[in-house]
Amino acid sequence: MNAVAEFDLAPWMARHLSAVEQALSDWVCPSAPAGLGQTMRYSVLDGGKRLRPLLVLAASESAGPTAASGGAALRAACAVELIHAYSLVHDDMPCMDNDVLRRGKPTVHVQFGQAQALLAGDALQALAFELLVPGDGSLPDGLSAHLCRSLALAAGGGGMAGGQAIDLASVGLALSQTELEHMHRLKTGALLQASVMMGAACGSVPSQALAHLADYGRCLGLAFQVVDDVLDVVSDTATLGKTAGKDADQDKPTFVSLMGLEQAQTYAFDLLAHARAALVSSGLPHVAPLHALADWVGGRRH
Ligand code: IPE
Ligand code: IPE
Ligand code: MG
Ligand code: MG
Ligand code: MG
Repeated sequence: MNAVAEFDLAPWMARHLSAVEQALSDWVCPSAPAGLGQTMRYSVLDGGKRLRPLLVLAASESAGPTAASGGAALRAACAVELIHAYSLVHDDMPCMDNDVLRRGKPTVHVQFGQAQALLAGDALQALAFELLVPGDGSLPDGLSAHLCRSLALAAGGGGMAGGQAIDLASVGLALSQTELEHMHRLKTGALLQASVMMGAACGSVPSQALAHLADYGRCLGLAFQVVDDVLDVVSDTATLGKTAGKDADQDKPTFVSLMGLEQAQTYAFDLLAHARAALVSSGLPHVAPLHALADWVGGRRH
C-alpha cells in the first residue's frame, strides 16, 4: 500500500480540528460591545465542519512538514473560516435565503436580530484580515500581504459576494451549465480554492506545483457545492443541521435542477477524481491529507 492509501484521516483531522477550535475560541473574543462579541462567538463556535481550515492546513503540509510555517497556517485557516462564517450569517438573513436553522442551532438573526447579524458578519470579516496582519510581527510582511490579497479576492465581488449576487439574481431562472458553474465557482469555489492556495503559500510549496494545487482546489470547490445541492434534496433537516429542501422551495437553480440527481452525483465524483489526479501531477510529497479530504467531500452526509 502506498502512503495515500494507508493514510488515516481521523487522527489527522482530530489533531487539526482541536487546534482550529482552540484558536477560533481565543481569537473571537467576547469583548465587542453591546452583545456583539457574544453574537460573533455564536456565529463561529460550536458547529461547522471546518473544511476550509483543514484544506489550509493540509496544503501547508504538502511540501513536507518542515516547510510548513505552523503559525501562519493556523492564522490563515482561521481567517478563511471567519469569512465563511460571516457569509453564512448573511446568507441566512431574510433578505437572502431566509433560513431559521444553521449548524443545528437557530440562525444568528433569529437568535439576536437582524442588526446584530449584519454587524457580526461585518466584524468577522474585519477580524479575518486582522488575523493575517498580527501586531507582533510574527508573519513576514510579504506573506501577510499575499494572504490578505488572496482572501480579499476570494471573498469579494469577483468571488463569494459576487457569486451570492448571481445566486439571488437567478431565482426562478433556468441557467445553462456554464452559467451555473460560474455561479458556484464564485460563491463557494473561490473560498475553497483560496484555502488551498493560502495553505500552499504558508507551506512554501514550490512554484511548479502551484498550478496543480489550484486545479485541485478549483475542482474540489465546485464539487463541494454540487454535493451541497444534492444533499439539499436527498438529506433531512436533522442530519444537515439546516433546513432541507430549501433550494426547490425557493426556486434556486442548482445542479440537481439542471441535470437531475443521479447526474449531479456523478458530476461531483468526476470533479473529485480530477482533483485527485491534479494532486498526483503536482509531484508534492505529502498530499495524503488532501487526497483524503477530497474523498471526504464526496462521502459527506452533511
Ligand atoms: C455551507 O458550507 C455553505 C456552502 C458553501 C455550501 P459548509 O457545508 O462548509 O458549512 P459548515 O461550515 O460545515 O456549517
Ligand atoms: C451559500 O450557498 C454559499 C455561501 C456563500 C454562504 P447556499 O445558500 O446553498 O448554502 P446553504 O445551503 O444555505 O448552506
Ligand atoms: Mg444561499
Ligand atoms: Mg443558503
Ligand atoms: Mg445549499
